[in-house]
Amino acid sequence: MDLDAKVCYCFHVTRRKLVNFVRQRKPKVASQLSECGGAGTGCGWCIPFLKQIFAQGDTELETLTPEEYAKRRAEYIKSGKGTPPPGATPLPTDPV
Ligand code: FES
Repeated sequence: MDLDAKVCYCFHVTRRKLVNFVRQRKPKVASQLSECGGAGTGCGWCIPFLKQIFAQGDTELETLTPEEYAKRRAEYIKSGKGTPPPGATPLPTDPV
């Protein structure tokens, strides 16, 4: 996924915004990434990826395609693990 791909589909926060937030604001804990546009405070799907961005190492996001990322989030939502807020990016319509 490139830097302009959304990481938080609930609040439409891109990887670039998150990477810049970590560089500029130097959060002390990963949960502070929620201050970046509310990232991670919706369905919760993106939290493991926010933690990877916080750690500033290699992330799974480098190898995941946006389609695979969206598909995995849809599986997460459909399995009842989280509820997206109103205005979140809708789930893909393709069968999962
Ligand atoms: S995708 Fe980030 S909280 Fe739902």
